[in-house]
Amino acid sequence: MRLGLGTGSTAAEFVELLGARVRAGLSVVGVPTSEATHRAAQAAGIPLTTLDETPELDLTIDGADEIDGARRLIKGGGGALLREKIVAAASRRMVVIADAGKRVETLGRFPLPVEVVPFGLAATRRAVEGALGRAGCAGEVALRRAADGAPFVTDGAHLILDAHLGRIPDPEALAAALAAVPGVVEHGLFLGLCSGAILAADEAGEVRLLTLGTL
Ligand code: A5P
Repeated sequence: MRLGLGTGSTAAEFVELLGARVRAGLSVVGVPTSEATHRAAQAAGIPLTTLDETPELDLTIDGADEIDGARRLIKGGGGALLREKIVAAASRRMVVIADAGKRVETLGRFPLPVEVVPFGLAATRRAVEGALGRAGCAGEVALRRAADGAPFVTDGAHLILDAHLGRIPDPEALAAALAAVPGVVEHGLFLGLCSGAILAADEAGEVRLLTLGTL
């Protein structure tokens, strides 16, 4: 299979387990969604390719920050949303693996990441705030910072604005409004991309798996 390899702590576990299967003879080729996953997949011995060489993938496995009942997602808590979305969109199926705590009734408790170019940051931020308002959302928009206090820079050399919204009443309207802002590269709403999800709940020390959609 041609696989998209997600980013984050859950996807990292998957990459590790996949590496063990590859070393035992499983034949796959992977496209990593971040530099971090690239390094992890290489270390695990997974053969890698690019979307330039392999523009269509069979399946992407990735984590999520939030998932609702319609399998709409918020992603980008790890800052890899742009490559994650490109890889997911190039895949025939995307399956999310996540802790059951990520399942929400309404998206928005997790701050929505919006990836922007550095040029014109203040103007883009005002335009993002306007887009949020037009989509019925309110809340603080904060420039993401790294541990050393400097602005967080993505693999694509962009910045991230985190929109603390609490709830997103109409994710489709918000996605369209954000996509129309010049300076916004991509946002963390993944709509119509996730075909299925496996959620793991810890119930008194026992792991219970819940599935959503088609795996
Ligand atoms: C990376 O940018 C994100 O989209 C991750 O997939 C998401 O944050 C889930 O990460 P964890 O599995 O670490 O919670």
